[in-house]
This record gives sequence, structure tokens and C-alpha cells, in this order.
Amino acid sequence: MEQQQIDSIRQLMEYEAARTAPPEGFPDLTDIPAGRYTDERFFELEKEHIIRKSWLFAAHIDEVPEPGCYMVWENAGEPILITHTESGEIKAFYNVCSHRGAPVVGDKCGKRRRLTCGYHAWSYSLDGELMSIRDPEDFGESFDKSARGLNEVRCERFGNLIFVNFDLQAMTLLEWLGPVADEWKEFGFEHSRLAQRHSWVLDCNWKVAMEANTEVYHVKTIHPSTVAPILDCRRNVNTLYPNGHGRMIAPPPQGFNFPGVGGGMSKQPEFENVTEIGRTCTQSYGIFPNWVSPLSQYTLPPLLFWPLSINQTLFETWTLAPGWEDGCAPDVWTDNGESLNGVLLEDTGFGETIQKAMESSGFHGVPLSYQEARIYHWNQSADQMIGIENIPEELRVEQVIGDEWIYPNDPRLELMKKAATS
Ligand code: FES
Ligand SMILES: [Fe+2]
Repeated sequence: MEQQQIDSIRQLMEYEAARTAPPEGFPDLTDIPAGRYTDERFFELEKEHIIRKSWLFAAHIDEVPEPGCYMVWENAGEPILITHTESGEIKAFYNVCSHRGAPVVGDKCGKRRRLTCGYHAWSYSLDGELMSIRDPEDFGESFDKSARGLNEVRCERFGNLIFVNFDLQAMTLLEWLGPVADEWKEFGFEHSRLAQRHSWVLDCNWKVAMEANTEVYHVKTIHPSTVAPILDCRRNVNTLYPNGHGRMIAPPPQGFNFPGVGGGMSKQPEFENVTEIGRTCTQSYGIFPNWVSPLSQYTLPPLLFWPLSINQTLFETWTLAPGWEDGCAPDVWTDNGESLNGVLLEDTGFGETIQKAMESSGFHGVPLSYQEARIYHWNQSADQMIGIENIPEELRVEQVIGDEWIYPNDPRLELMKKAATS
């Protein structure tokens, strides 16, 4: 991060601490309709238009490290096969044989030169090409092997992270991330190693789970002795980006020496290019639709929220790090992979009862504060992606946050100048 950006974030922290109301001109946020958490119609729209059209973090290169490696990935609801090809590319395909629809790969991961279907032994290269079939003479002259390869889905990398997109017309991953891709350069994604990957099932809507990690308004009540002492919530600075992404940066309370997320272990290797804000503050990104991650010089630990049903979520806790010593891979989020750690138990413990309460007749909608604007921005972007006209009227959110609040625009900078000169 350039010094000029660091300076303006520091100023914005003071601006946020000093303000006595939302910034002048910030829109009143209308209620998020209750049905977005409880109505199957909205859940179907999310699956069809959000999950199937967004770039989704699926895997880390360490899971398919060499040519010939493959793995099956099903978190987005469809069976996907991720391969490392002979030429070193990473590709993704539906794990569906072009013959009679059997899964091409039956195990979770492995290493082979050819992927051979277990039903009638059609055999594919890791590029998805159909290489050989049994008894080809029985398929007739019009059978074209070259047209019977595996069906591909989009697959792109950001450093060592592998993203998948079901939408063949989607913009590139770099366009999708936009300014975030530049901000992430210092965090060394290309040097990251996979330290931990665990998954958990939560009995609540995926947005209930995710939104607990998209604002700091809850910190004093949910995390009074864990997060609250290391986070100055009044100095939190939210930034809204195109495509529904968001960022928070909050300093520690004055006088507190911030260890960095995942720090505190002796001799922990570092991503060396991380600049001052990443080293001294909580800098966390929400990447639309389902990624939340604080980033620091020690770890990149994304949390992923996958919709399983209207009231169930597959929750993934990842830790990526530049390396580690003594075989002791760092884990930001769990206790030996056996349970979520204290902070995440605090964040997720409430989910099931919130979901039950939301499903009652007494729940009508969610009024959000300025502090919770990233949640509103997510919902507004979700409607744009679904297509507002596709959403039943009572389930829409109003498009009240204008482009003037979306990065690189930020009226707070002008408001600060105005206040300084008056
Ligand atoms: S279904 Fe795969 S070879 Fe027949
Ligand atoms: Fe929290």
C-alpha cells in the first residue's frame, strides 16, 4: 500500500472516530427483507445467479501440485474435477463422463496420466480430451471423439489460489477482483502454502453466518474478551468496491501492540512485502459472494460460506501461510481441526437460534446501520447480479448506495477536507 493511501486511511480512522452521525449524504439504508433468509424462492435465485456466475475460491495449488494431479470439488453444489495438466495448466471440468454420465473420477483426489471412467472405461487426458473408448467400431461413423471431451468450466488463478466460475461468459478473475487485486499484491498469494483446510456444517442461512463476519458492530457484545480488546471499532474504516466486494480496516486500541492475524508463534515466517496497515491493523476483505478474510504478514486465512439449503451452510476455514517450522502448520481458526476456535464459536454459536427466530412470523426485515453498510452493499450487488426484475418485489433491496460511495469514489475524503478548513 502506497504511503498516500496509508495516510488517507489513518485520516479516515480519525474521521470515523470523530463523526456524530453517518457521513453527510450517506443514504438511509432500507430494510433487508426477511424472506432473503427464509424464502426458498430467493435461495433458488441465489444459486442460479450468484453461485453460478461468480468467481469462487475452490482450491489451493498445493492440493494439485504436479502435472497429473486432480481433485474433486463439490462445494458449489455440482461435481467439479480440477486437474493439473501435463503442460502445467490448472483446469476445471464437470465430473461427468461424456458417455452415460457416470462420474469420471470416483475418488476425492489422486495422480494419474489418464482419467478413466469406472463404468465402460472411456479414458480422458487431464486436458479433458477423450483419448480412447472401448469397442469404438460399435459407435458408427458419425461418432466424433474430439467433440466428446469433458465439459469445461472457467478456472483461473490468483497466485496459488484456484478459482472456478460456471459462467462461460464471465469477466476474468482479475476484472472481477478489480482494485482488490492490486491491493492484494503485497500479501504474497503466489508464495502461500496450504496450512489448513477444514469444513463444518452450520444450521443457518449462509448469509446469517457470513454477515457475522462482515461488520464490527457485534464485536463488543459477541466478543467482549477475545476481539474487543484488540480492535478499535469506532476507528473502523469500511470501503465498498465494485462487484459487491468490501474491506474493513480497524486499528487496535491506542497503546495495544497488534500481533497480526496468525502471529504470536515464535519465528513464524512472514510475507515480507506486507506494508504498515496490514502489519498493524485488522485488514479484512469480503469478496463477493462468499469469502471473508483478514490478511496479515503471517497468514491469509479465508473463511468460505457455501449455501447448502435455505437454512444450512457449509463453512470452510482455511489458513494459508508463507511456510512454517517444525512441521507445525499454523491454524488461525480451529483447535487441531477438531473444533472451531473461541472467536469462531462466538461468531457461529448464535446462528441456529437466529435462523429459528428469523423463520418466525415476528421477523419482518433487517434495518442496517452505517457501520453495517458492507452487508447492504453485498445485498444490493446480489440483486444486480440476479437481475432486479427476476426478484419478487417483496424480496428486493432498494438500490440506495450510489456509485459515489463505491471505490475509488469516497465522499468522506472531501468531507474531511471541508471539516478541516471550516
Ligand atoms: S459412463 Fe463413462 S464410460 Fe460409460
Ligand atoms: Fe465476529
